[in-house]
Amino acid sequence: MYTTTQLETQDIKRGEIPTTFHKLILGNCMSMEEIPSNSIHLMVTSPPYFNSPFDYKGLFKNYEQYLGVLKNAAKEIYRVLQDGRIAVLNIDDMLVNGDKFPIVADATRIFVDAGFRYRDRVLWKKPDGYLRISRRSGVLLQNPYPMYFYPDNLLESIVIFQKGRFNYRSISEEIRQLSKIDTKEFSNKKWYMTLWEMVNVLPNSQLEKGIAAFPEELPYRIIKLFSYVGETVLDPFAGSGTTMKIARDLYRNSIGIEIKKSVVPVIKEKLGFGNKMNLLNNKNDRFEIIYRKSGKYGSIS
Ligand SMILES: C[S@@+](CC[C@H](N)C(=O)[O-])C[C@H]1O[C@@H](n2cnc3c(N)ncnc32)[C@H](O)[C@@H]1O
Repeated sequence: MYTTTQLETQDIKRGEIPTTFHKLILGNCMSMEEIPSNSIHLMVTSPPYFNSPFDYKGLFKNYEQYLGVLKNAAKEIYRVLQDGRIAVLNIDDMLVNGDKFPIVADATRIFVDAGFRYRDRVLWKKPDGYLRISRRSGVLLQNPYPMYFYPDNLLESIVIFQKGRFNYRSISEEIRQLSKIDTKEFSNKKWYMTLWEMVNVLPNSQLEKGIAAFPEELPYRIIKLFSYVGETVLDPFAGSGTTMKIARDLYRNSIGIEIKKSVVPVIKEKLGFGNKMNLLNNKNDRFEIIYRKSGKYGSIS
């Protein structure tokens, strides 16, 4: 599990911590008008689950509307990402009223159609005790006969896309060294496999209440693996701001887009710009909120 104390073992020593900038745009990420083209170094996000019975019941009129949101977001993500850079989706197929929607396959097609190369897929395995949807496997225990098999889902996908190819020579030796990956952590925690065992955010966690947040470990691995110190990480479905927080902890800048105004205090606190400060962070770091005027791409309360 990722902990902030790991930061102390990094190459960057306290006292020479780079200053980082964090911007939260309150509005709909189908437009990213504030973000210039080719300006983002990494995108990592978890879009809302299509009409999840827990978090987003009835949010979308139908599946086509949901895919339309992903299509518009993919187009904008492609525009704002620099050439060669990575976009990561944490996403999974969704069971709604007994039908399973093939979101991973459809989202992959959408991102490829937007121009991305499909680079990899890692499966996130939650601990055995975790069950998001009610125990579907219980159906077979009550009816121990063929045709009653409905497995419990412990997996989510982490799908990795790339905009063209990366120019490794574009990074200075100094920045490469500052961004070096700890190979012990890489090996011991088995980052090298396509199965990542990570503990989910616990249901009683206060800050993420009502937000389907991913664990800090997820953006921690992605940011370390696919961005350099001082670069800018985007999360267009920011939620509680987990990606932005880890970007700050790892000396990257961040931009988050979130449609719900009500999460602002959560994001501020999580990033350490509220009342609680994280002593490891640089106190010169800056946090800015852009409130879009209401309208087609405005925010909701
Ligand atoms: C799965 S949550 C993201 C959770 C986040 N990864 C975290 O760790 O807290 C998806 C978020 O996307 C937001 N959202 C949904 N549609 C959006 C849109 N069109 N534009 C921006 N944000 C949106 C929801 O309000 C929700 O907070």
